[in-house]
Amino acid sequence: QQDVPALSDVAAFPVGVAVGPQDLGGRPADLLLRHFDQVTAENAMKPVVIQPVEGEFDFGPMDEVVDVAAEHGRTVHGHTLVWHRSTPDWFFEAPDGSPLTDSPQDQALLLERLRAHTQTVRDHLAERYGDANPVRSWDVVNEPLDPEEADGLRRSRWYEVLGPTYVAQAFQVAREVLGPDVVLYVNDYDTDAPDRRRALVRLLLDLQAQGAPVDAVGHQMHASLRTDVDRVATTLDAVAGLGLRQAVTELDVAVSASDERLAAAPTDRLAQQGDQVRALVQVFAARDLEFVGVWGLYDTRSWLRHWPEDRPFEAPLLFDDDLQAKPAFWGFVEAA
Ligand code: XIL
Repeated sequence: QQDVPALSDVAAFPVGVAVGPQDLGGRPADLLLRHFDQVTAENAMKPVVIQPVEGEFDFGPMDEVVDVAAEHGRTVHGHTLVWHRSTPDWFFEAPDGSPLTDSPQDQALLLERLRAHTQTVRDHLAERYGDANPVRSWDVVNEPLDPEEADGLRRSRWYEVLGPTYVAQAFQVAREVLGPDVVLYVNDYDTDAPDRRRALVRLLLDLQAQGAPVDAVGHQMHASLRTDVDRVATTLDAVAGLGLRQAVTELDVAVSASDERLAAAPTDRLAQQGDQVRALVQVFAARDLEFVGVWGLYDTRSWLRHWPEDRPFEAPLLFDDDLQAKPAFWGFVEAA
């Protein structure tokens, strides 16, 4: 590995990274431990992994990730509890297999499942790590926004069963189960887009009016060369103005897909990406953020290689396929 400065040394804020069990040995683990203060489990703490069948828990992958953090004194940002994409189907099925409705009984059953799931995760962490439990924060509700809807809320199955107050109810359950010290996040993507910013602010005002115990906002920040950093700044300032804490939870800067600027040669693209990362991190560093997390250790491991279709040349992270620092890394360092 190159002799480069450690991100955790240069940054004024904690730097996080999403990892899976495959990142915890060899050179990836060296990279992880050299640069990062905090980890998020990319998938290992999602309900569909932890409890694929009601009452059958698999903590194997989560334990691998959290063990490394605990062993090396790093914190863990928990991801996630309520999300339309990672809640297993059984959550939304009645004992006879029929879909849950919005009847009071079905609503109570769904909330009880959320409570039982969260309690079992909490108890497992408490038993394994005691007072040294490194999980200090959770994405309680992931991706609730849909600016196309009149109320700005995505019509997920959580919404369909519990109604528009489901976000507040989920935070209530999380606070009751996880206690007062865990930082509770609502997390969403493209929060810089004006329509999504409006939906976010509206949700946050609603949650505050309902007395929901939301502490913080997570901005996923799946960005691209086209992302307008002034809009990012506007959103961060709007959230700060509501008195909430916030973090960048899933930073990456896409350089393939349908970006017209990508007519440039690959090396130029990577230089442009470095400039974009610098501009974004300048905005982050000028504000009070809980942490800035990147969504993967090195390009090979990025989810964007496979989403929304196979994109083998996608390179959205700070380190390349050979785990070497890219212009994006240096942009981060210069601005952090
Ligand atoms: C992604 C993972 O990176 C992939 O490995 C998985 O197949 C799907 O989920 N927003 C989120 C993350 O909140 O959980 C998603 O992670 C990326 C988008």
